[in-house]
Parts: sequence; structure tokens; C-alpha cells
Amino acid sequence: MGDGVKASVLFVCLGNICRSPLAEGAFRAEAQRLGLEVMADSAGTGGWHAGDPPDPRSVAVARRNGVDISGQRARKVSKDDFRTFTHIYALDHDNLEGLQAIAPRDATAELGLLLDLAPGHEGRAVADPYYGDDAGFDVTWRDVTMAAKALARRLVEEGWR
Ligand code: 4NP
Repeated sequence: MGDGVKASVLFVCLGNICRSPLAEGAFRAEAQRLGLEVMADSAGTGGWHAGDPPDPRSVAVARRNGVDISGQRARKVSKDDFRTFTHIYALDHDNLEGLQAIAPRDATAELGLLLDLAPGHEGRAVADPYYGDDAGFDVTWRDVTMAAKALARRLVEEGWR
């Protein structure tokens, strides 16, 4: 529970250029709407795209929905993330397993699957849109927005500020 502490949330996918930047953007927007002073970031379990901006298709779908994610840069998740963030959410099961495999013994972050936060969508993965067409990115946006809204609401209810 929050007890007035500031939450910090990390969203993790594989490359940190398609899905988790959208989750970060959607969550930042929702937190701001609710007046929640939360820190948000995203990372990838893979490091191939470190330093890169989000995929142009992610930038475009966010922009169509009024959110600017163009300033984000990809990075690989680190062991320190498990101690510095209060919550870490994986976009799919493979990345959740990857996170569990590298979690240090003194990890303090709550670790979970992103869509477990969205009522009726528990256990589902946010599908990787990287190799698909533009429509896949609309599906990604819909999924991450559902989870972001549920998460922001939950953090407010739990007393995180
Ligand atoms: P993401 O999508 O995990 O949602 O960022 C991917 C981006 C790049 C690659 C795979 C997935 N890749 O293999 O380069």
C-alpha cells in the first residue's frame, strides 16, 4: 500500500521500442489526468535498440491519441531497476519470465503481468506488433490504455500520491 509514498512504475517489453513506450506514455497521461505524482519509465529485456527512439508506428499511434512519446529512448532493464522502482510490469509472459530470471534477491519492486491489471483481460499478453501492420499498433494502444487506466486508479485508491 502507498501510505503517501510516491510510486514509480517500469514497463518492460522485449525491444523497448514498440509496446512498453506506449504503456509508459498511456500511463503518464492517465496519472496526470488523475493528479497522481508517479514516476514512469520503460525498458527492454533485450538491449539491441538501446538509445533508439520508439518505432515510428508507436510514435504515430500515440500521437493520434494525443500523447507524445517521441522523446523516449530505449534502454535495457537492469538489476537496479528491481530496487529503485516500486512496480514493474511485463507486457507479455516471455518478458515476465525474463524479469523473474534476473531479479536480484533483494528486489523490492512488485512484479507482474501488465494485463493482469485490466479486469477481464487477466493472463493475456500484449501481442508484439513489431512484425505486423499498422493496425496492430492500434490494438497495442487499446491494451496498454486499459491497463494504464486500471493501474492509475488502483494506485490512487491504495494511497500512493
Ligand atoms: P517491443 O517490440 O518488444 O514491443 O519493443 C519489438 C521490437 C524489436 C524487436 C522485437 C520486438 N526486435 O527483435 O528487434
